[in-house]
Amino acid sequence: MDYKVEIAKLIKLDGVSFDEILPLVVTAKDTALADFAFPCFKFAKALRKSPVIIANEVVENIKKPDFVESIESVNGYVNFKLSKLNFVKGVVDKALSLGENFGNSNEGNGKTICIDYSSINIAKPFHMGHLSSTVIGASLYKIYKKLGYNVVGINHLGDWGTQFGKLIVAFKMWGDKEDINNRGINALLEIYVKFHKEAESNPELNDQARNWFKKIEDGDSDAMQLFTWFKEVTLRDVKKIYERLDVQFDSYNGESFYNDKMQPVLDELEAKGLTKISNGATIVEFDESEDMPPCLLRRSDGATLYATRDMAAAFYRKNTYDFYKSLYVVAYQQNLHFKQLFKVVEMMGYEWAKDMIHVPFGMVSLEGGKLSTREGNMVFLEDVLDTAKAKALQIINEKNPDLDNKDDVAEMVGTGAVIFGTLVGSRIKDISFSYDKVLNFEGETGPYVQYTFARCCSLLSKIDESGQVDYSNLTSADSYELIKLIDKYPEIIADSAAKYEPSIVTRYIYSLACAFNKFYLEQNISNSNEGDKAARLAVVRIVKDIIKNGMSLLGIKCPTKM
Ligand code: ARG
Repeated sequence: MDYKVEIAKLIKLDGVSFDEILPLVVTAKDTALADFAFPCFKFAKALRKSPVIIANEVVENIKKPDFVESIESVNGYVNFKLSKLNFVKGVVDKALSLGENFGNSNEGNGKTICIDYSSINIAKPFHMGHLSSTVIGASLYKIYKKLGYNVVGINHLGDWGTQFGKLIVAFKMWGDKEDINNRGINALLEIYVKFHKEAESNPELNDQARNWFKKIEDGDSDAMQLFTWFKEVTLRDVKKIYERLDVQFDSYNGESFYNDKMQPVLDELEAKGLTKISNGATIVEFDESEDMPPCLLRRSDGATLYATRDMAAAFYRKNTYDFYKSLYVVAYQQNLHFKQLFKVVEMMGYEWAKDMIHVPFGMVSLEGGKLSTREGNMVFLEDVLDTAKAKALQIINEKNPDLDNKDDVAEMVGTGAVIFGTLVGSRIKDISFSYDKVLNFEGETGPYVQYTFARCCSLLSKIDESGQVDYSNLTSADSYELIKLIDKYPEIIADSAAKYEPSIVTRYIYSLACAFNKFYLEQNISNSNEGDKAARLAVVRIVKDIIKNGMSLLGIKCPTKM
């Protein structure tokens, strides 16, 4: 039952509707005094009474239902304390019966959300900079699905640009087809880097690269074949990383997909009188109050740009998916780009411009530069995952050398630690990444939560669960706190979706694990009597299911033993 709604229904005030009352019912700050509170200050003026008197009258007019233990008027607030037994029974029954479906809802019924995330650049390495976009987007994808939305995951590949011309030149000079087929992205990168070094002393190579890119643009078959092959090689490697991170996409339509879809948009812009020619280039200027530089859509040499492709993509997505919202999970460095993009669509007269949302995030840097780097300052995601896995294996070998499937567990713990560490802070904050921090079994980390999960699994495998649950044993302070937290799970999911913030789920799971461990230390589960045991094990099962489900929303798997 939704206690906020039920409590709001109890409150009767002259001339004030339920819809006005509901948002004012809040969770009480001091849980020793109340569970929910209703402040009456807002009505003093209209009702010409003091808040204290209003609160008194509200209390007098309520006939206390069973689920409420007490109702009191305190300094202009109406304080509600729930009947613990009733509350505990309601939460436990519901969570137990729903299992991993607890928190599912149908808020998204009939609505489609497009999420543009990861959106890596082809023929360039998958580096740390794309980690946040990838895991934040993938997590939002799963969260929206849980809420019943139809979700379209889009990897807007950076698969257009002069880097392809450079790669072709490099390949023609030094490339070895077999080597590239075998070693994939790494081999491509080597010749790409070599090209840049060589071009410093031989700038003529850049002209060649431009010519080759022009050939790709013109659809020359030799050039196209290489272009497609570079793309395949990169995607094949990148998909291995996506698998490790449990990331899926419904579309890999990247920038090149929009080659033939830009002209109609440019024509419409022109027809609507929104474009201007400036030194031969096509631009859209903004009203002075917007305080933004013009948006460049076609260079004087005729070339289209990143923004032109995004314009075409916005229309393609609206027409193809009829989205309710279209999210772009992209670093805050691109704030201006998206502000311009959304504004141009708005200026064209489309009210759905307001449904396009930039979900920015901060930068990832490496604490003390300890992460392995190969070329330049790039940190390769694959190396990060491998290192985290190796370190996890080391820890497992120290803590639990006889564990089965150590390699699988190390992969779950290592990769899980990296994902959890990326998602635990508010997304807009910059992250300073350190292996020791994310792999600390005692910190606010993935391994800590996974360890708690394994503890739940072990308890359930050792103790018989079949007894009759006696709910009165779950009303002690630590049990009650834990159950209140369990009750919050559905609200947490909805809140993280509304704010595009997987960190809300991440931090919640951590606090649930903490509260559970406290409960575990204070309750002697295996040595309690039948009714107590069954009640406590019911809580263990619920926590286990929430951790499993919550972690899966982040893309993290939990081993049953570790
Ligand atoms: N490929 C771009 C980059 O790495 C990100 C693309 C984001 N998506 C978009 N529709 N612009 O910076």
